[in-house]
Amino acid sequence: MIQRCIQCDARYPLEQVVFTCDACGSVLEIAVDANSLGDVQMCGRGVWRYASFLPVDASKRVSLSEGDTGFHPCPTLAKMYGIDRMFVKNEGENPTCSFKDRGMTVGVTKAIEMGAKAVACASTGNTAASLAAYGGRAGLNAVVLIPGGNVAMGKIAQSVAHGAQIVQVDGNFDDAMRVVRELSAETGDVYLLNSINPFRLEGQKTLAFEVCEALGDAPDALVLPMGNAGNISAIWKGFREFRDAGLSTKLPRMIGVQAEGAAPIAKFVNDNLDKCYVSEPETIATAIRIGAPVNWAKAVAAIHDSHGLAATVSDAEILAAQRELAHREGVFVEPASVAPIAYLKKHGVDAETVVCVTTGHGLKDPDAILRVEPTILHAQPTLDSLQEALGLR
Ligand SMILES: Cc1ncc(COP(=O)(O)O)c(C=O)c1O
Ligand SMILES: [Zn+2]
Repeated sequence: MIQRCIQCDARYPLEQVVFTCDACGSVLEIAVDANSLGDVQMCGRGVWRYASFLPVDASKRVSLSEGDTGFHPCPTLAKMYGIDRMFVKNEGENPTCSFKDRGMTVGVTKAIEMGAKAVACASTGNTAASLAAYGGRAGLNAVVLIPGGNVAMGKIAQSVAHGAQIVQVDGNFDDAMRVVRELSAETGDVYLLNSINPFRLEGQKTLAFEVCEALGDAPDALVLPMGNAGNISAIWKGFREFRDAGLSTKLPRMIGVQAEGAAPIAKFVNDNLDKCYVSEPETIATAIRIGAPVNWAKAVAAIHDSHGLAATVSDAEILAAQRELAHREGVFVEPASVAPIAYLKKHGVDAETVVCVTTGHGLKDPDAILRVEPTILHAQPTLDSLQEALGLR
């Protein structure tokens, strides 16, 4: 395995800390020749089951048993939306309750291999929570930069609990991202663990492997939210590698969904713009409130090569779908995570088997679900009063 520029094919050894190509400035990926993996050993469960596909030493792993998340059939919603077979792969069931843990277990293992003293990220909250947990477990100092305002309270609580140094930057996520990249470039000891780090994405690709194993092959379509677009890039890479290793036969269409107020990739793809950027992104789905996605080129390739698409949904559609998924199927996820459900509710999909990736747990952002005043009944502690409150008499 080697690091490779996605644009000009320049190569860099796995031991080199490099996030963008010296020659052309584009992002890198880990080249894995899945054809040559031979008889792949898959042992145990979760991310490390797929150690043969990962570019780090599994015997030194920093792990909290990430991956192996719930794969839930959604027959009620499938019927409502006119879909044959619909599943939710619920990444909220990871150790810090988001998909970031799949990447962080590999990324922090790499940080230890590289002899880093500290790990750092810019984050809308979930990366911070995950980095704080895995960094702390590895005995590293964790530095997390969050944008001013609009970070969900549950995520901040997690970073506090895990003992990270939390810095709120006077600016949005994109400003925080720029300055943390400057910090890691300046200070060799601070290892950057945003999704521009290709090792982190290697962990995230394992979701594709789990989905293929659960279904016996890849689905026809996979729908997921896009922010910085690391996850869509990673999962698409995973589907291709599993197929190349002879472990699945087909590839899904990749459908990336963004919030209307923060949709640089959907605009770039659908309106033929020459720059993938929106200034001042805004949405209730704070996890995907991103205007300058670092992995846009990988995401555009995934959408194009898979004959997929990029779409948008409104905040109102997101909030409605959040309640519907929780109420009808018992799966409560945060607003960003439900963008795929909102998309399917609105448009359906021309595919037999569709998998939605719900990326983070609903309790991370309780304010979102409580924006609509909940109906809470009141009763005296007597049977009469209780029956009256419930309208049973
Ligand atoms: C809950 C949730 N969903 C989706 C995303 C977007 O993932 P990506 O930036 O890899 O596109 C994030 C990123 O922070 C997230 O926290
Ligand atoms: Zn290059």
